[in-house]
Amino acid sequence: MTDNSTKPGSNAMWGGRFADGPDAIMEAINASISFDQRLAAQDIAGSRAHAAMLGATGIISPSDAEAIREGLLTVMSEIEGGTFEFSAALEDIHMNVEARLVEHIGEAGKRLHTGRSRNDQVALDFRMWVRDQCDAVQGAIRAVQEALLGQAEAGADWVMPGFTHLQTAQPVTWGHHMLAYVEMLGRDAARFADARERMNESPLGAAALAGTSFPIDREMTAKALGFARPMANSLDAVADRDFALEFLAAASICAMHLSRLAEELVIWSSAQFRFVALSDRFSTGSSIMPQKKNPDAAELLRAKIGRILGANVGLLTVMKGLPLAYSKDMQEDKEQVFDAADNLMLALAAMAGMAADMTANRAALAAAAGSGFSTATDLADWLVRVLGLPFREAHHVTGALVAKAEAEGCDLPDLSLAQMQQAHAGITDDVFNVLTVENSVASRTSYGGTAPENVCAQIDAWKERLA
Ligand code: ARG
Repeated sequence: MTDNSTKPGSNAMWGGRFADGPDAIMEAINASISFDQRLAAQDIAGSRAHAAMLGATGIISPSDAEAIREGLLTVMSEIEGGTFEFSAALEDIHMNVEARLVEHIGEAGKRLHTGRSRNDQVALDFRMWVRDQCDAVQGAIRAVQEALLGQAEAGADWVMPGFTHLQTAQPVTWGHHMLAYVEMLGRDAARFADARERMNESPLGAAALAGTSFPIDREMTAKALGFARPMANSLDAVADRDFALEFLAAASICAMHLSRLAEELVIWSSAQFRFVALSDRFSTGSSIMPQKKNPDAAELLRAKIGRILGANVGLLTVMKGLPLAYSKDMQEDKEQVFDAADNLMLALAAMAGMAADMTANRAALAAAAGSGFSTATDLADWLVRVLGLPFREAHHVTGALVAKAEAEGCDLPDLSLAQMQQAHAGITDDVFNVLTVENSVASRTSYGGTAPENVCAQIDAWKERLA
């Protein structure tokens, strides 16, 4: 665009005191339009609210306010229609939109920026964008929870080995294992909801950093844009990006949870485990080994934490040590958040699909559940409960029996009563009842335990919560 009030080559928006335009490299490092055009809808919504307020307070005339609001809709439709020409010379989305508005409506457009700055404008736009993402992520998390809940319901009482140190520990139920992730994801969703509530204050009207001498109505713009209230301190409003950091922190924790589940799927789908079969829809083949079916989606999900946590560390590092109020460093906030948000949404969608599609192998789970002396704790508990042994002693006796079974190459229930009694004379036939995995899991009725009756109750509770 051209503007005769500035020297040739200098920036039309702020070039009043400049005799020369920017070096090409300066323009390249300075411009954010290549990425902040993603804030177009938020920028235009913010400007429309600002213009309405300027009109209502009499800071500009109602007819100018109306012309601005209409003109901004035209600009928005150009952006949506793909006909808008973004210009790096105009640096960012804020000046691109404003310049185009002036082209459309002339003089009135130049009044839009009254009582505002790009500093509160960008803080506003970005806050609204992140706020939307908090909502979107919560919906995507719910879809994963629903898929896992479906799995839990199908196999609420299926037995499988529970692990510690990835060594067989005690039998658990498939439903219980699935619900563990439903719980984690529930806390993830709550973190996004909590962050959203805290970020829901409007920075608009903080202007450059000190507020403005115009009689603006910040309550009005805050309300129009869905915020609970305006931010109380203008320096804070333009200078902080903690809302984005909270989003990234919540995203990192959520991505960590997805990564752990993904890792289990990688292990479980291997020929050595065969606990689950992943669907063809979420697997890939090898270009050389015809037999291969690789869990690529799970592996990529396992990896997404890398870039998401990277964004969190990256933005924290950008922000640390910045003096108040706005510094251009803060323009580096957006790309990392965009990338993290995109990848978290993709990861959640992939996990939802994979979890819904996968088939648990009940027989393989059950076979593995009984191996590795997984009911040794049940035996020790029986010695305590029935024979009155102190737990330490029961642990010792059971250890001797495990060693015996290991030497014989059999499992605990395969030992004879006579062999049992060599370890402790008081042992009776009754002990064999606690050595089955079914009885083991059924006995874990303590609150939060793996007993199928608990699992079914938790499934019902989650269904209600997600309904
Ligand atoms: N593009 C800038 C950013 O993303 C907008 C704010 C620029 N403000 C300024 N005073 N230069 O941070």
